[in-house]
Amino acid sequence: MGLSLFAYLVLGITGSMLFFKRNYGHRQRPWLQPVHYITGWVMVILVLLLLMIGIVGTLGHYGSLGHSEHIVAGLSAVALVLLSASSSTQISQKQPWARSVHVGTNIALLLGFTWVSISGWQVVQKYLP
Ligand code: HEM
Ligand code: HEM
Repeated sequence: MGLSLFAYLVLGITGSMLFFKRNYGHRQRPWLQPVHYITGWVMVILVLLLLMIGIVGTLGHYGSLGHSEHIVAGLSAVALVLLSASSSTQISQKQPWARSVHVGTNIALLLGFTWVSISGWQVVQKYLP
C-alpha cells in the first residue's frame, strides 16, 4: 500500500508537470511522459495485487467475503484506478473529455486511497496482538 501511495504521489507530480507543459509551454522533459505512463501501470499492478491478497486472505480466514466496509472501499479504489488508466488511453486532441475524466478520477482516487487505508487499518486490528 505504501508503494501504491508513493506511485500516486509521483503520478500527481509528473501529471501536474505534464499539465503545465501543455498549458504554459514549460520546457519539454523527454523523461516526463514515460515516467508518468510506467508509474501509472505499476500502480495498476500494485492495486490489483492488494485486491488479490485481500480476497485470498479473507476467503482463507472466513471462507466468504463481505465482512466489513473495507470490501466496498477496496473495490472502489480498484474501479477508480482502472478508470484512471483506461481514460488515459483515450487522451488525444480529438477526445479532450478523456483528460477531464482522467484528472477528475485521480482526484477522487485520493479519497479512495484514504478510505481503503483507514478501513484496512481498522480491519487489521483484529489480527494484531
Ligand atoms: C493509473 C495509471 C495512469 C496512467 C496510465 C496515466 C497516463 C496518462 C497519460 C497518457 C496522460 C496524457 C499525457 C499527455 O498529455 O501527453 C496523462 C496526463 C495526466 N495525468 Fe495521468 N496517468 C495515470 C495516473 C495518474 C494519476 C494517479 C494522476 C494524479 C494523481 C495523474 C495525473 C495526470 C495529469 C495531471 C495529467 C495531465 C493532464 C493535462 O495535461 O491536462 N495520472 N496521464
Ligand atoms: C488498494 C488497496 C486495497 C485493496 C484493493 C484491498 C482490498 C481488500 C478486499 C476486497 C478484501 C476482502 C474484504 C471482505 O471480503 O470483507 C480485503 C481484506 C482485507 N484487507 Fe484490504 N485492501 C487494500 C488495502 C488494505 C490495507 C492498506 C490494509 C491494512 C492496513 C488492508 C487490510 C486488509 C485485511 C486485514 C483484510 C481481511 C479482512 C477481514 O478480516 O475482515 N487492506 N482487502
